Amino acid sequence: MAEQLILEGSTREERYRELYPQLQALLGAETDRIANLANMAAAFRQTFGFFWVGFYLVSGRELVLGPFQGDIACTRIPYGRGVCGDAWAKGMSLVVPDVDSYPGHIACSSLSRSEIVVPIRSVRGEVVGVLDVDSQELGDFTEEIDRPWLEQYVGLLAPLFP
Ligand code: SME
Repeated sequence: MAEQLILEGSTREERYRELYPQLQALLGAETDRIANLANMAAAFRQTFGFFWVGFYLVSGRELVLGPFQGDIACTRIPYGRGVCGDAWAKGMSLVVPDVDSYPGHIACSSLSRSEIVVPIRSVRGEVVGVLDVDSQELGDFTEEIDRPWLEQYVGLLAPLFP
């Protein structure tokens, strides 16, 4: 596949729908974990202009920063800490409309106002990392649109974690 995305939709939902098969093809043509995580982060940034989007990967009892797009970020997050560590511990996606009201939120950037974190599962179903997307706007992510779509995208990553 040519390394070019075709994006014509004007709403975020339309763009989720049109990016999905393109990312599926791009990731399906490559087996390297870092290359695919890097391209997914870049595709999200390019398509949606997210303030910060990237991955943290499980390493022992911590999450360690992986490929991302945006400003430099915290490198290690303990199990059960912050939104990312909570999503890992609970094994479920977390939509946080206002990070200032989230107990234990880890502020990598003071400009981040809302976020969504989606656990990544291996083929065997273990949580092996998380996708974290941050926004400068309050309430930028919804349970109805962003959560199911990002969960579907993250499902593309399972084969990278056999
Ligand atoms: N806010 C996250 C930390 C990661 S950064 O925002 C990139 C958290 O509370 O887990």
